[in-house]
Amino acid sequence: IDELVGEGVSGKRVFVRADLNVPLDGDTITDDGRIRAAVPTIKKLAESGARVVVASHLGRPKGAPDPQFSLAPVARRLGELLGTQVAFATDTVGAGAKATVGETADGGVTLLENLRFNAGETSKDDAERGAFADELAALADAYVSDGFGAVHRKHASVYDLPARLPHAAGYLIATEVGVLKKLTEDVKRPYAVVLGGAKVSDKLGVIDHLLGKADRLLIGGGMAYTFLKAKGYEVGKSLLQEDQLPAVKGYLERAEELGVEFVLPVDVLAAPEFPDLKTKAPANPTAVAADAIPAELEGLDIGPESRKLYAAKLADAATVFWNGPMGVFEHPDFAEGTKAVAQGLLDSPAFTVVGGGDSAAAVRQLGFDENTFGHISTGGGASLEYLEGKTLPGLAALED
Ligand code: 3PG
Repeated sequence: IDELVGEGVSGKRVFVRADLNVPLDGDTITDDGRIRAAVPTIKKLAESGARVVVASHLGRPKGAPDPQFSLAPVARRLGELLGTQVAFATDTVGAGAKATVGETADGGVTLLENLRFNAGETSKDDAERGAFADELAALADAYVSDGFGAVHRKHASVYDLPARLPHAAGYLIATEVGVLKKLTEDVKRPYAVVLGGAKVSDKLGVIDHLLGKADRLLIGGGMAYTFLKAKGYEVGKSLLQEDQLPAVKGYLERAEELGVEFVLPVDVLAAPEFPDLKTKAPANPTAVAADAIPAELEGLDIGPESRKLYAAKLADAATVFWNGPMGVFEHPDFAEGTKAVAQGLLDSPAFTVVGGGDSAAAVRQLGFDENTFGHISTGGGASLEYLEGKTLPGLAALED
């Protein structure tokens, strides 16, 4: 981006593809981390006199306008953070967008409506995506890619648009890629990876790849129960992906051959029912041994002994990557495991990276100061796919 700015952007329309996909409760933004992360690039361009055209997706609308996924609340918050008025276009490439972009003054900022209100954005058909990218390209003179959280998507605004305009990477992309490189090249050991979240199937690629790279893999969250079952333990009513059992068994065997340590919960907090996340009514959890969860109970967090174990495994690590909560942290009865891992990262002298919207939101919601963590990535799927060694379409498109 510095090169692009150096060449002069004053009076030019610069399209910034950001990832402003933030969690909303109605039209209240519950975590604005991604909007704050987009500010430095937008600010730099605006201060350099560009007419900044910001675009993003929000949620997964079905290729047509859907008010619950409008970026209007994001435009307001972005304006507050920038300390300036952000004009909001009520469509993405239609008459509204054309008019609003046309009225954007030098140094002004416009946010387009959700890219995914257009079927061409996510289409698998190259021609359909290309046609939408042509319409986006008509709104700008240059393109800056800064939506790190979406670079793993082969979408029109991420993959096809840069080929149509002079392009550059923004500050967020540069920072994120710089940090993730430290986890793939010359990594300082011991390298511990903490993986949580509901489904093991979302993490198979990264586990497969990291088995040859990490020294320890600490497993928590809903996915831990498929590991416990694969070891032959009873998991009661806990979340279980039966179809993943062969893959997980294979990983456990490979880890043993490679001398990689799999750290699994030794105890879990369990309750008869999944807790009510709206009322947050007490769920009366019991701590039970992880190798014999009673048939009538569901494991919903790692237990007190596991918390100590996981903290100890992080204490002497030199590098830590963490993706995914250890339990149903949205309910206070099941937040302690995730808190313990967050605290373990803070107490460890290791270089730490927290990857993923959920884990980053968990860190903030649980009251931790995000500035004290090594790096909190704005990309969940994107950071995992980067660590898997996959080619990310949005980064490949910038590399020519
Ligand atoms: C994310 O939340 O990980 C990114 O914004 C990408 O969103 P998507 O998974 O809906 O493509």
